[in-house]
Amino acid sequence: MKILIGVTGGIAAYKSLELTRLFIKAGHEVQVVMTSGAKEFIQPLSFQALSGNPVRDSLFDTNQEMGMGHIELARWADQIVIAPASAETLAKLRMGRADDLLTTLVVATDKPIMLAPAMNKVMWSNAATQENVAILQQRGFEILQPASGEQACGDVGEGRMPEPQVIFDAVNQFQVQQVKNQQACLELRRFWKGKTLLVTAGPTYEAIDPVRFIGNRSSGKMGFAIAEVAAKVGAKVTLIAGPVNLSTPVKVECLNVRSAQQMFEAVQQHVASADVFISAAAVADFRVAEPAAQKLKKQAGSDEMVLTLTKNPDIVAWVAQQDTKPFVVGFAAETENVLEYARTKLRSKNLDMICANQVGENLGFEQDSNALTLITEQQEKALPSSTKTQQATDLLRFISDLV
Ligand code: PMT
Repeated sequence: MKILIGVTGGIAAYKSLELTRLFIKAGHEVQVVMTSGAKEFIQPLSFQALSGNPVRDSLFDTNQEMGMGHIELARWADQIVIAPASAETLAKLRMGRADDLLTTLVVATDKPIMLAPAMNKVMWSNAATQENVAILQQRGFEILQPASGEQACGDVGEGRMPEPQVIFDAVNQFQVQQVKNQQACLELRRFWKGKTLLVTAGPTYEAIDPVRFIGNRSSGKMGFAIAEVAAKVGAKVTLIAGPVNLSTPVKVECLNVRSAQQMFEAVQQHVASADVFISAAAVADFRVAEPAAQKLKKQAGSDEMVLTLTKNPDIVAWVAQQDTKPFVVGFAAETENVLEYARTKLRSKNLDMICANQVGENLGFEQDSNALTLITEQQEKALPSSTKTQQATDLLRFISDLV
């Protein structure tokens, strides 16, 4: 494997010599890129001797750019490891800065990047650093948890760079997982390539008057994750989304609607060509029978307001009733008796499959993770809690085994 080690300014920079040695000993090819801060702590010559390659440290070195330009270097690597990753580097990477060779490489690469942060414990716990870490994780950076212990400055706490052996093992483990993911992707592609998937996502808003509505806490993340993964493995995806604040995944056609009635009409228009329909939207069961044309005013002398609600069409049940219908997958969002209520919905709505999830405080709605139980008449599979992307992947794999 070709490993590019980025070394940034920090007292832990010397530990990356041992990391370089471990990779070389295991038969990997290593190139080292140092920031100017790193060179304040350690000499490039040491890395050059261990890696057997000249150390790269400048974006504007004409000799080096002729040999292997920063874009070529970004393409050369199979894996990038930045150790130590300073607080400044985390902030620059979060912003997408490209003002030195290392940050430019990161912006220019699509290869996996692992960061081993190292800094003073107060810097590590600083809200800005933690926010940078969270955002980088969301963007797919693998970030190792710093170790705890005595720090160079005399403080004791979390912020030490993990030991070289820990980083080395984490890279190996990550690579094994990458290979597994690629295999899983190939398997999914075998079924989903060319299939047409219709997905609903997000809440519906039911108007009370021109300024107010009845809504719910669905963010759309679950349905968008399904659409994104399905498109990545070659499905033709149409996503019908209620009001959400998410960007449309690449290669997904997204239709925006507001109310349950609008979602119903969009589904009716697109369902005929679908091989699979997944109803992940939290559709309002009721709407206001007669939304007011003007903003409702408080009635003098009255402490109450009565709204008359009328039933919305049940979209997923309607799809499941059609003579020619896709494979129909519903969701069940429950706060109690989750599996029992989900099984009842599977039957009463005549679905091929239902995905049960517990919702409530910090569960299901709005979260980045979820824990679905996939239920058909014959099978039941509980997925362990994981990201919505992982849940979507497992759900699509389950469907591909059934259909
Ligand atoms: O959007 P997130 O923040 O990521 O949260 C994800 C989620 C919790 C919303 C999602 O995982 C989920 O459970 N979606 C279904 C929510 C829901 O409305 O469940 P329900 O049990 O009320 O409805 C059962 C099924 O009927 C669902 O497939 C629903 O889409 C469908 N339905 C409901 C009412 C209606 N009028 N028409 C429908 O099609």
